[in-house]
Amino acid sequence: MIPGNWLQLLTCFILCLIVSHVALVSNSVSADEPALAAVKVLVAYHSLSGNTERMAEAVGEGAKSLPGTTVVLKRVGQVTADDLFSSDAIVIGSPVYWSNMSGEVKTFFDNWQFKFGVFPEFKMKNKIGAAFATGGQVSSGKEVTMLTILAAMLGNQMIVVSGGGAFGASATTEGDSPGVDKKELADAQALGRRVAEVAAMLRSPPAN
Ligand SMILES: Cc1cc2nc3c(=O)[nH]c(=O)nc-3n(C[C@H](O)[C@H](O)[C@H](O)COP(=O)(O)O)c2cc1C
Repeated sequence: MIPGNWLQLLTCFILCLIVSHVALVSNSVSADEPALAAVKVLVAYHSLSGNTERMAEAVGEGAKSLPGTTVVLKRVGQVTADDLFSSDAIVIGSPVYWSNMSGEVKTFFDNWQFKFGVFPEFKMKNKIGAAFATGGQVSSGKEVTMLTILAAMLGNQMIVVSGGGAFGASATTEGDSPGVDKKELADAQALGRRVAEVAAMLRSPPAN
């Protein structure tokens, strides 16, 4: 025969066990928010006067806003083979030079072969890719710049995504423009966030 106060204590203990178990299960897998894989996003850019660098930082902030995401932010010339191959997603930014990506960014892409030997195995295959650009004038090559970056990624059998704008995030920096503004930085953040989300979805096990 168990005395009354011991019975109360035992009941209380069992109830606590049940409640903590339910809390643990509902925390780890929520019906609304399936657990996403942690991903690594490389943000690589060229920038002489700082505009594209500011956009790159905002892309990185947006990617980091997805919990579990690691961001590596580097100038294109400093990217190593390990940076490239260990990333789940790569976002590349360029200033517009003569209505296209700058020579440094093009050289970076060429080095994927010359330095990193991506072909013929297609070592970048199925990584997520995205682009951003800054240009002095409103309509003088930002979209061509982003599209040529995306074209190089497609040639590497990457999966390209947009965000912030139709082809990526961009900013106008000269003339009547006040420079990279809040809206353009918000677009860059939106691009970074979407890249991280799509990469995480691709790397996560399928829901039951
Ligand atoms: C060599 C050169 C060519 C450029 N050509 C263009 C151009 O075709 N269209 C444009 O909108 N801006 C052009 N620009 C302006 C830059 O794209 C713009 O200032 C950009 O924001 C610079 O980025 P950064 O501050 O990251 O270096 C050119 C600048 C340079 C130095």
